[in-house]
Amino acid sequence: MRPTYTSDLWWKNAVIYCLDVETFKDGNGDGIGDFRGLTQEIDYLAGLGVTCLWLMPFYPTPGKDDGYDVTDFYSVDPRLGTLGDFVEFMRTAHDRGLRVIADLVVNHTSDQHPWFLEARSRRESPLRDWYVWSDVPEPDDKSQIVFPDKEDSVWEFDEKTGQYYLHSFYRHQPDLNVANPAVRDEITRVLGFWMELGLSGFRVDAVPFLIENVDPELADPHDFLADLRAFMTRRKGDSVLLGEVNVPYEDLVTYFGDGLGDQVTMCFDFIGMQRAWLSLARGDAGPLASALRERPKPPKDCQWATFLRNHDELTLDKLTEEERQEVFRAFGPEKSMQVFGRGLRRRLPPMLGGDLRWIKMAYSLLFSLPGTPVLFYGEEIGLGENLEAEGRMAVRVPMQWAPEGGFGRGEPERTMPDGAFGPERVNVADQKRDPGSLLRWIQLLIERYRECPELAWGSCTVLDADHPAVLAHRCDADGATVVILHNLSDTAREVGLTLDGLDGCLLTDLLEDGTTRVPDGGRVSLHLGPHGCRWLRASAPDVPPEDASAKSEHSR
Ligand code: NOJ
Ligand code: CA
Repeated sequence: MRPTYTSDLWWKNAVIYCLDVETFKDGNGDGIGDFRGLTQEIDYLAGLGVTCLWLMPFYPTPGKDDGYDVTDFYSVDPRLGTLGDFVEFMRTAHDRGLRVIADLVVNHTSDQHPWFLEARSRRESPLRDWYVWSDVPEPDDKSQIVFPDKEDSVWEFDEKTGQYYLHSFYRHQPDLNVANPAVRDEITRVLGFWMELGLSGFRVDAVPFLIENVDPELADPHDFLADLRAFMTRRKGDSVLLGEVNVPYEDLVTYFGDGLGDQVTMCFDFIGMQRAWLSLARGDAGPLASALRERPKPPKDCQWATFLRNHDELTLDKLTEEERQEVFRAFGPEKSMQVFGRGLRRRLPPMLGGDLRWIKMAYSLLFSLPGTPVLFYGEEIGLGENLEAEGRMAVRVPMQWAPEGGFGRGEPERTMPDGAFGPERVNVADQKRDPGSLLRWIQLLIERYRECPELAWGSCTVLDADHPAVLAHRCDADGATVVILHNLSDTAREVGLTLDGLDGCLLTDLLEDGTTRVPDGGRVSLHLGPHGCRWLRASAPDVPPEDASAKSEHSR
């Protein structure tokens, strides 16, 4: 494909970097990260090679769900700065070629939001119908309770007005009634506001919950998503919605707008992520390979967002009980590491025992899977966790910039990991100077990922490798091919593969030096070290490898 396509449809091979302003960098010495601190580090992010920042909620909040409980959708949490600081940050990000998206948390508000305070003040309140009320606590499906450690119902009684309100999450997060046209209008205005300030789109929180309470008798709940997307496209043609949609693949396609692709532009691949962890636990490529084979092709111009970890628990809710226990045993055997009976409150490097070779292979996998990779801040340096922190806060630790912490002039409000993952061992400054560091590896993966648009744009085929521990796949686009191999086990292997149509081609290693000629018949034997990985570009004998990419005119 032409480079112009990859800039018009920028999200299809973006590298998204999720960060919380509060934990990234403190610019004024009060121990809390802020927009001024983040702005100081824009060059670091641009240098890393990421192309789009995803800001976790930065709106005013009582902070009972780390900002996912908003009291004003049109403003900045004063602890993080002012709207002025936000605009300066946006300008600097754009200057360095970075796009920015932000969390859109409109399934619910905080119970301290002025809308809810008004709505609950009396039944006749003009805002009463902005939330979802019931005379009786409707029967709960206990399996639908998202935070079973704190809640046993999704209905909460409101003493003053004698009705129950719906809260899909915590009781302090009443659900908005998006069936109400006035609520839809207001949400649309929120999108318009931030887009006017330069955002390229939104990560939409809890999408299935957002539309679930819309009565299908009255309207197709999916219309709301299509309306939002149409609104955004009218205002800014290349803006995107990145949906948090953790549902089985067969139900998920409707969120892309079935075949139309007119709703959520990108969906996180929760199923692929969970199967990847099962594969890592077993040292067997099978579960991940099956997810890749089952995963529906997104509609034209839509994309999967791939990830290994995020700011929440590593949810394993779509595995069977037995599989979940296998992953628990491998990566979080202690009860204190588990949460909600379904997930692990851990970051990747400690789960992989700090084994750099294994960690590097895991990220190579992430960047080579078809889709748009999403990193959670600190993954690039192997940031650890703090299990002393409550629940999911364990993974939301301050970024470690230097051996002494480097978060800012003051003591960070949140505690950094210690021991093998403390700042003296894991930090940006040291890794910048170390060519063998994880930071340099991630930078290389990003560079190669961007140079190989076939990974994100092409058609992906899982190949039959002759060992169960090895995942082999190829991505083809516009006559160009990349072949990728990962050894999920810690034993070196020779892997036999048949590469149809590549007879006589040269395979050039993209992550290290090396070339292999594909013999007639297309059968190759390739070496993989323990937890080894290889990215191989195929080129015809008369084409230099660097000209054989789908981004080059030669490939067609
Ligand atoms: C999903 C977010 O990722 C999570 O952190 C939050 O608690 C819930 N939605 C509720 O907003
Ligand atoms: Ca601060």
